[in-house]
Amino acid sequence: MRDNRTGREYEIPIGDGTIKAADLAQIKTSDDEPGLATYDPGFVNTASCKSAVTFIDGDKGILEYRGYPIEQLAEKSNFLEVAYLLIHGELPSKQQYDAWVHEITYHTFVHENVRTFMEGFRYDAHPMGMLMASVGALSTFYPESGNIADPDNRHMQIVRMIAKMPTLGAWAFRHAQGKPYIYPDNELGYTANFLSMLFKMSEQRFEADERLVKALDVLFILHADHEQNCSTNAVRSVGSSQVDPYSAVAAGVGALYGPLHGGANEAVLRMLRRIGSMENIPAFIEGVKAGNERLMGFGHRVYKNYDPRAKIIKKACDDVFEVTGVNPLLKIAQELEKIALEDEYFVKRKLYPNVDFYSGLIYEAFQFPPEMFTVLFAIGRTPGWLAQWLELVQDKEQKIARPKQIYTGARTLDFTPAAQRWA
Ligand SMILES: CC(C)(COP(=O)(O)OP(=O)(O)OC[C@H]1O[C@@H](n2cnc3c(N)ncnc32)[C@H](O)[C@@H]1OP(=O)(O)O)[C@@H](O)C(=O)NCCC(=O)NCCS
Repeated sequence: MRDNRTGREYEIPIGDGTIKAADLAQIKTSDDEPGLATYDPGFVNTASCKSAVTFIDGDKGILEYRGYPIEQLAEKSNFLEVAYLLIHGELPSKQQYDAWVHEITYHTFVHENVRTFMEGFRYDAHPMGMLMASVGALSTFYPESGNIADPDNRHMQIVRMIAKMPTLGAWAFRHAQGKPYIYPDNELGYTANFLSMLFKMSEQRFEADERLVKALDVLFILHADHEQNCSTNAVRSVGSSQVDPYSAVAAGVGALYGPLHGGANEAVLRMLRRIGSMENIPAFIEGVKAGNERLMGFGHRVYKNYDPRAKIIKKACDDVFEVTGVNPLLKIAQELEKIALEDEYFVKRKLYPNVDFYSGLIYEAFQFPPEMFTVLFAIGRTPGWLAQWLELVQDKEQKIARPKQIYTGARTLDFTPAAQRWA
């Protein structure tokens, strides 16, 4: 590298297609100034870690967890097996799988005090606010969770968190509905139990249609990890202080709560409702092309091809609608997709459907209110957050997250005491 300010040249090693930002610090115009740094709001071109969890090739539309293509996992695996894969790095043997499912199943209950403090939320509390608070509060029930150097202890908290997130999410839902909280049914599988805690009323056992259980399980798999997205970065950043994993995951839930991250599927539904009928589609598309608004659920920062998750969700739509009846908005969505995939405006800009284009329609078919969509995302993403957290705490190269800044404020002002300033 040549510094045009001084004419000096430096050799900076390139590894894995990156340079080490710290290597730039030797580039200075004088000894008493700080060395060269990079400015990268939103980390758009900065790697914050080395990771072996998730691979994405956005141009080709590839997503793999631990090397396994998402299409194969969605079709042939189940959410708890995928969670095991993410956390442990490889697929379980029969014995390991049975032990894992047993552990997760038997940690679904939460302390009764969690229940009483959840009951203390306002009647209309947003379920994501309740989830964020309650998962963070688990750190007070398990104070040993702060001992993150102990592998057995880490394992225990990971099991607890994957097990309890559906309980907390379902109770947040029941709270808003004014319905009694339902305790876990450990005779049911992970996703079937979640549906039971959401929808059970007076029946002895709530048994959801198998097709719905499978569809929701697939949605959890599709959301289980997505490398260094905003919430995962939040988990890693907070986790880098060596706080317990409940507090780190609470930060992830907080990040997901934001509309730029977890809220796009709700925006898709609002858009489809506003379009309302097939004859309004051409005018809507013209408006999008004129730059008046965006076609929600299309385009992605990373995917410049069909989001591989969107393809799988489309198939899940068919399965769910077979049980619940077709959502009339589906026709509008399909027609929009058909037009957009052929229209030069979208083709040229590589705008394809993303994961959110169809997921809102499915969630609505389950009769989830829009506030719950992100809770479902958070339950699915929990194993990913924890796999990334585990990787972080074992990575010797990691340090406490502490970005640099470019200071733009005033300097060396003289302070006049208030009594004099206000005299
Ligand atoms: C996801 C998103 C924020 C990615 O944005 P990005 O990578 O920063 O892409 P840009 O905003 O630079 O867009 C590139 C071009 O495509 C256009 N574009 C991007 N997404 C578009 C959309 N959904 N509808 C219409 N035009 C879109 C932009 O207007 C821009 O056009 P221009 O070059 O003529 O100005 C963006 O595609 C978007 O807003 N999509 C809709 C919201 C959504 O579905 N979000 C969920 C993501 S999982």
